[in-house]
Amino acid sequence: MLQNKVAVIYGAGGAIGGAVALGFGREGAKLFLTGRHLAPVEAVAKDITSAGGSAEAAEVDALDEQAVDKHLRFVTDKASRVDISFNAVGIPDTKILGVPLIELDVEQFSLPIATYTRSYFLTARLAARRMVPNKSGVIMRVTTLHSRTGLPLVGGYGPAMAAVEALTRDLSAELAPQGVRVVGLRPQAMPESVGSRRRFFEPRARASGMTWEQFQELLASRTHPQRLMTLAEMANVAAFMASDKASGMTGTIVNLTMGSLDD
Ligand SMILES: NC(=O)c1ccc[n+]([C@@H]2O[C@H](COP(=O)([O-])OP(=O)(O)OC[C@H]3O[C@@H](n4cnc5c(N)ncnc54)[C@H](OP(=O)(O)O)[C@@H]3O)[C@@H](O)[C@H]2O)c1
Repeated sequence: MLQNKVAVIYGAGGAIGGAVALGFGREGAKLFLTGRHLAPVEAVAKDITSAGGSAEAAEVDALDEQAVDKHLRFVTDKASRVDISFNAVGIPDTKILGVPLIELDVEQFSLPIATYTRSYFLTARLAARRMVPNKSGVIMRVTTLHSRTGLPLVGGYGPAMAAVEALTRDLSAELAPQGVRVVGLRPQAMPESVGSRRRFFEPRARASGMTWEQFQELLASRTHPQRLMTLAEMANVAAFMASDKASGMTGTIVNLTMGSLDD
């Protein structure tokens, strides 16, 4: 589905970024993988190249405008264009979750809002500047169901995800007339992303008196198939959305919560 497409992924060393990279690689994309630390990104790139795919790793802080721009210049020099920009950056949840709003420090509240919107805005804007002249491209970002439902002890994370979804729609309104699609995916907790999900849910699980395992069972029980999604299932949808087969899709967030959240 992505044969010869040039894709840049931010946060490619993380659970979602890594899974999307592998999924895009399976579909034939030429990958430029980036992350704040090089080693985990290199490991993902190695898995892709060992399987016969094309992937290059680079250290890029997705909050640093100059670093993102410099890397995109490198990509376009090397591959002549950028077809897909996927932002999967995630900040450590321990810094933003687990404190009741009434006790939450304003800096801690603002951190996810400022970080997620800044990083997405920068990567989208700098990619769009390369895509618009070609009248072609897809800009993507992951969100989660906090954007659309009230949950306790998540600080500024819900407002951050809602802002990211609004930005997806606004970017699409400006860029789609110029041939660039902008779409988001909204998966729920995927059990294999153990490190980040555990950090994310533990403060909430503890506060509600549940063990981590009980909490995961509760989340699964809210889905229609009574199970949580796998990273590979999420990556398959991401690959379709990035492909020309999804040419009719823009300005929308695909709900991957398997029934936990109604549209
Ligand atoms: N996993 C899930 O089940 C799930 C479900 C729905 C939504 N989400 C959302 O999806 C996003 C990614 O989640 P994840 O589970 O993949 O998290 P993760 O495994 O913690 O990965 C996040 C990645 O982002 C990188 N990163 C952080 N700040 C960066 C920066 N300034 N520049 C470049 N890279 C940066 C991290 O690198 P370092 O470790 O080197 O800092 C890490 O590799 C988060 O917003 C999360 O809330 C996750």
